[in-house]
Parts: sequence; C-alpha cells; structure tokens
Amino acid sequence: MKILITGVNGQVGHALMQELIKHELIGLTRQDCDLTNLDQIRQVIDQHQPDLIINPAAYTKVDQAEDEPELAFQINRDAPRVMAEKAREYNIPFIHFSTDYVFNGEKEAAYVEDEPTHPLGVYGQSKCAGDEAIQEVGGLTYILRTSWVYSNIGHNFYLTMKRLSQERDELKVVADQIGVPTSNVFIAEQIKRIIPQLNQNNTGVYHLVPDGSCSWYEFAKQIIGHTNPQFHLEHLHAIQTHEFPTKTKRPANSVLSNVKIKQVFDLNFSDWQRCLSQVIAEEQ
Ligand SMILES: NC(=O)c1ccc[n+]([C@@H]2O[C@H](COP(=O)([O-])OP(=O)(O)OC[C@H]3O[C@@H](n4cnc5c(N)ncnc54)[C@H](OP(=O)(O)O)[C@@H]3O)[C@@H](O)[C@H]2O)c1
Repeated sequence: MKILITGVNGQVGHALMQELIKHELIGLTRQDCDLTNLDQIRQVIDQHQPDLIINPAAYTKVDQAEDEPELAFQINRDAPRVMAEKAREYNIPFIHFSTDYVFNGEKEAAYVEDEPTHPLGVYGQSKCAGDEAIQEVGGLTYILRTSWVYSNIGHNFYLTMKRLSQERDELKVVADQIGVPTSNVFIAEQIKRIIPQLNQNNTGVYHLVPDGSCSWYEFAKQIIGHTNPQFHLEHLHAIQTHEFPTKTKRPANSVLSNVKIKQVFDLNFSDWQRCLSQVIAEEQ
C-alpha cells in the first residue's frame, strides 16, 4: 500500500515511518510540504496518488498558540480539511490525530468519543475545529485522539524529566492533573494493526491511548525511577497546578476511554507502564 505520512520529523510521524516500513512510504517534512500552503498540499497528494493519507503533523505548541492563533488554525484545521477533501476525491482513507485538549477536563470519569467538546485554549480550539472540519467533509476519515505523547525524540515530558533529574537534586511535578501517557511507538503499532481493517463501516472518532492512567507526578516517578538510579525519589515533590502556572490552562482530567477502538478493531493494549518500559529499553 502506498501511504503518504506528514510530519515525519515529529514524534508520531517518526514512529510511523519505522513501524510501517513494509509499505511504500512517502514521508513528508515541512520542507517537502508546508501545511500553511493549501495548494501545495493538494499538489503533493495529486503527485503521489497515495492509497492512504496519515496526518500526524500539527501545530503542537500549546502555550505559544495563544499568541499565533491564525497559524494554529491554518495547520490544525485548514490543512486537515484539505487532506480530507483530497482523500474523499480519491476515495481513500484518511487518518488524522487529535487530542485530549478538546475537553476541559472537568469530568470525573474517562472521556468517551461522543462527549461534548470544550477546549480550554487556542491549541485545543484549533484541533477541535480540525476534527469538525474533517467530519464535515466525510468520506473514509478516522480521527484518533491521543494524549501525553512522549518518545525518545523531540520535546516531551519523558525527555525533560530524564534531563532535569540529571541536572537537579530536587524536582516538583504537578500531581492534580491525570491522563494517559502514550508513547509514539504504541501509537504506530496500533495504526499498523488498524490499517488492514479500514472500511466505510468503521470510520469516525476514536481514542487511542494505552490502558491505565496516572498523574504527571506518578509518570515522572516511573520515568526517573527507571532511568536515573542516582536521583533520590524522596526529592521528587508532588505539587498542585496553581504552584506551576502555565499560559494556557490544562485539563485536570485528560483520561480518554480506549474501549471503543479496542472493540471495533479487536485490539489488546498494554498499560502505560509497559509502554514506558519499551521506550526506555529501546534507548539502551
Ligand atoms: N505531543 C502530545 O503530547 C500530543 C498529545 C495529544 C495529541 N497530540 C497530537 O498527536 C499528533 C502528533 O503529535 P506529535 O507529538 O508527534 O507532534 P510533534 O512531535 O510536535 O510533531 C509535529 C510535526 O508537525 C510538523 N509541522 C508543524 N508545522 C508544520 C507545517 N506548517 N508544515 C509541515 N509540517 C509542520 C513539525 O515539523 P518540524 O519538525 O519541522 O517542526 C513536526 O514534525 C498531533 O496531531 C498532535 O496534535 C499530541
């Protein structure tokens, strides 16, 4: 199958290029196709004539988005809409990624797919607008919402905690926000299993996260405990959100229910701790 993948220098794009190696892959960087240029997106798709489009590229700078909302909406709403239109024109599937940030985090339990959205900031609003734009276009479209993505590349909480635990003796991490840490490798492995099953009866929105959930503090404890035996974990302190102010408010509860995707595509997921061990093992 000829698969066009955007954002291959990003966390998810990078893992997809490795996991889907047996397919004919067209991996696009920002230099190959700038997602702010809608005509270029159309031309690149026309040129390559793929059998499937996967779009992990996105504007992902949550706080910076407050200062450049137009750019965030161009990349997160307008670009995926054009991809969905092209996919419909060629009658091919389109897999797009979305986020836990479409919700405000006030719910007590895990979020299911058809819950009303209430994004807290520009990034979440732009991703939410992308989901809506794609659904308006219709066709063989799949919106996979994930959360707390980490990997051995790029900028993410996992690499930040590893680095800070080397640089500092004491660390403070927020303990009153919960979610599901999701590795780029986990995402790519599940996409590989889903691809052969794509058909007009299973299009729609899905939550793609491993089993289990935790706070940022618990996630940090697992990361440091398994990667830096020199750091004294009693010097890792749990703090409240108000003690670590950010420009954009984060959802307190980011936990996404993965029941639907497991049922529809007959998948078995590991828990997030096992996925973390896998990422740590791959680096060593
Ligand atoms: N990271 C998370 O915690 C998280 C959580 C929930 C959902 N998600 C969603 O999951 C998906 C994958 O996220 P990720 O963590 O893999 O993102 P990432 O590592 O930030 O990668 C995003 C990629 O998009 C590319 N990109 C940005 N602007 C572009 C433009 N104008 N033209 C072309 N490419 C552009 C970037 O290119 P450069 O490398 O050139 O900058 C980068 O390679 C996204 O849809 C994201 O919204 C992420």
